Amino acid sequence: MKPIPYGHQWIDNYDIRQVVKVLKSDRITQGPKIKEFEEALCKYTGARYAVAVSSGTAALHIACLCAGIKTGDEVITSPITFVASANCVLYCGGKPVFADIQEDTVNIDPKKIEEYLRRQKVGGRREKVKAIIPVHFAGHPCDLEEIHRIAKKYSLSVIEDACHALGARYLSRTSPFPSSRGESRGGDERWVKIGSCIHSDMAVFSFHPVKSITTGEGGAVLTNNKDLYEKLLMFRNHGITKDSSRFTVHGSRFAGSWYYEMQELGFNYRITDFQCALGISQLKKLEEFVKRRKEIVNTYNQELSQVDEIILPVERWYVKSSWHIYYIRLKNVEKRKLLFEKLQKSGIGVQVHYIPVHLQPYYRKNLEYKQDDCPKAEKYYESVITIPLYPALRKSEVDYIVKCIKEFYKELR
Ligand SMILES: Cc1ncc(COP(=O)(O)O)c(C=O)c1O
Repeated sequence: MKPIPYGHQWIDNYDIRQVVKVLKSDRITQGPKIKEFEEALCKYTGARYAVAVSSGTAALHIACLCAGIKTGDEVITSPITFVASANCVLYCGGKPVFADIQEDTVNIDPKKIEEYLRRQKVGGRREKVKAIIPVHFAGHPCDLEEIHRIAKKYSLSVIEDACHALGARYLSRTSPFPSSRGESRGGDERWVKIGSCIHSDMAVFSFHPVKSITTGEGGAVLTNNKDLYEKLLMFRNHGITKDSSRFTVHGSRFAGSWYYEMQELGFNYRITDFQCALGISQLKKLEEFVKRRKEIVNTYNQELSQVDEIILPVERWYVKSSWHIYYIRLKNVEKRKLLFEKLQKSGIGVQVHYIPVHLQPYYRKNLEYKQDDCPKAEKYYESVITIPLYPALRKSEVDYIVKCIKEFYKELR
């Protein structure tokens, strides 16, 4: 059998034709497809504004800048995530603070967020928490309403790291939007899509090939706030504005149409037009992709629930995960390395998502984090293995993966 990766894009001929059309056109970057992709993202999620950029990391960076994160500020995030969720705070001169996870969902625990904020208030510390970056780990939405409540109480911004969660939904009890922006479920409850920003200031997606949809590299920030939207546009493009109503230099009104102003220290985080053509085409298939992922998850759940030594991932009743990855936890953590190596030798692309960020050497050395700072995250890390999950994964491959795992435990007996 051909090696099976842990994640893989699905690109078909329709996608390829859309990209080729742009490549044959006059504008391969900064053309009309960028706006079209942004509008498609808004239509899908229900958010008012979207800014497409060159990666999820770039999206997190400009989202933090727009939230006003600067030297001395603290931002609370999860320890079980890719390093980019915390690094974006460091880029702005701020300090990432890690709140421990919920054991079942592996998402940031709102109780731990509030505990930290309370302790800080009582201690009268100088550093100021400015924002929370909840990460929808593996595509399972965080407790957004509770996080939003805490953020309001302490006047914090919420930037969702939704890089895993395009296509996920949660049941909102306080959604302020009319039903056209979500999917009504009767009463005041409403299924809303991640990215709608109903309970956050901004939400960030990644379109890396292993994610729900791909543009190669790519990302986006979504928001319902016009001011944030305009700032995001500026930070994407060197901090430059060409909008004459925003010019600040006296006399600039009399300048010609060549005139622009650099008002912030921004970046070149632009995405290309042909990437966005791919994004538009991929977005049309998103619901199918999520459905196929869920079918594979059902098979894994059914088969692996027969193995006593394995703990399966959960999906709380008030969410619909986008199932970015499928992770299993081993009751006997000493067997993790053995199983990982057996699967690897069998041609199965296993991974570990994630090494807790606070234990990375950079974080230990420069921010003085240490073992036991987030005990639940550390315990989770010792036990976990990610096994392959992507829409193109065939039934024969799923059966083979299950067989290899079951064999491992049989041989142990
Ligand atoms: C949770 C999370 N946040 C941020 C990122 C960064 O996204 P990108 O690779 O598009 O820069 C990733 C990428 O893997 C991620 O998994």
